[in-house]
Amino acid sequence: MAEIGKNIERAKSLLQMGEVIGIPTETVYGLAGNALSEDAILKIYQVKNRPKFDPLIAHVDSLEKVEGMVKKIPDEARILANQFWPGPLTILLDKKPGVPDILTSGLDRVAVRIPNHATTLKLLRELEFPLAAPSANPFGYVSPTSAKHVHDQLQEKIPYILDGGPCHIGLESTIVGFEDGETVVYRLGGTKVEAIESVVGEVKISVNMSSNPAAPGMLKSHYSPGRKLILGDILENLKGLNPDTTGIISFSKCYDIPKDNQVVLTSSADIEEAARNIFAALRKMDQPHIEVILAEYVPKEGLGIAINDRLRRASV
Ligand code: TXA
Ligand code: MG
Repeated sequence: MAEIGKNIERAKSLLQMGEVIGIPTETVYGLAGNALSEDAILKIYQVKNRPKFDPLIAHVDSLEKVEGMVKKIPDEARILANQFWPGPLTILLDKKPGVPDILTSGLDRVAVRIPNHATTLKLLRELEFPLAAPSANPFGYVSPTSAKHVHDQLQEKIPYILDGGPCHIGLESTIVGFEDGETVVYRLGGTKVEAIESVVGEVKISVNMSSNPAAPGMLKSHYSPGRKLILGDILENLKGLNPDTTGIISFSKCYDIPKDNQVVLTSSADIEEAARNIFAALRKMDQPHIEVILAEYVPKEGLGIAINDRLRRASV
């Protein structure tokens, strides 16, 4: 416990100096900086090599702090916040003028979320500013679900990674907003659409698959493990391929190829376990000897819908 306290102190002082560090959340690790400082936000974009048209999520620990950033919290947003925060849900709300334009890429809405991770909540409570935090991966690559993932790629670019263990959810937050009285889901993620609908009624799903910068962050090609990924029937697609240079990511079945080349997401067909493992599986396939990755859709239920979305984006 004493060590966690020391780590939080270190994270806090670096953030107060305007630095950018890795932080744990229940979804994926974030690359965090002061959300009210243009310099810190610029640093985040630089470290990630991320285009500035792709805005960032502000993380806070309380609804009061959200109130400090937005013009108002509509009733539906309040209902969702009460139900799902802290948790894997991001809500788009009209920003107050004091929120830097660079945080929102000039958009009128700011994305906010209260993450469900004890260490990060404690850090947020002690800070007098919200934390801007995109996933802590180079732009376009697979999101990190452990401190090691962040270390492997960003170690030389950031002064510190607050280690909070492996991420419990393993997929990024679901993003919602409101248009003409309707609740709209812009990104499928760790909060199931069914769960959202059970509190606010039917929602519109507006998940873009085209590379359209006007719909930021919903770039078609993302989560790329740096290899061609073919999505579909694994046995069928394996025909004619060299098993020594082929990687396989399966839902629950084991295939007859070298063990080192495959990941079974969940041997007990548990979709939540598959969600926790999907990004690590994609990373594991990023090995020099693997030329092509074969993956299959997971069952289309619960978090399976979001896992399939990530696999689809990794395949284009
Ligand atoms: O689970 C998560 O959401 C993680 C953890 C660290 O909290 N963060 C994360 O951030 O996934 P990032 O930057 O990798 O993805 C955020 C997405 C992007 O697609 C971005 O375009 C969208 O949120 N977004 C952020 N602000 C927005 C805004 N004002 N309007 C529309 N989309 C926005
Ligand atoms: Mg990301």
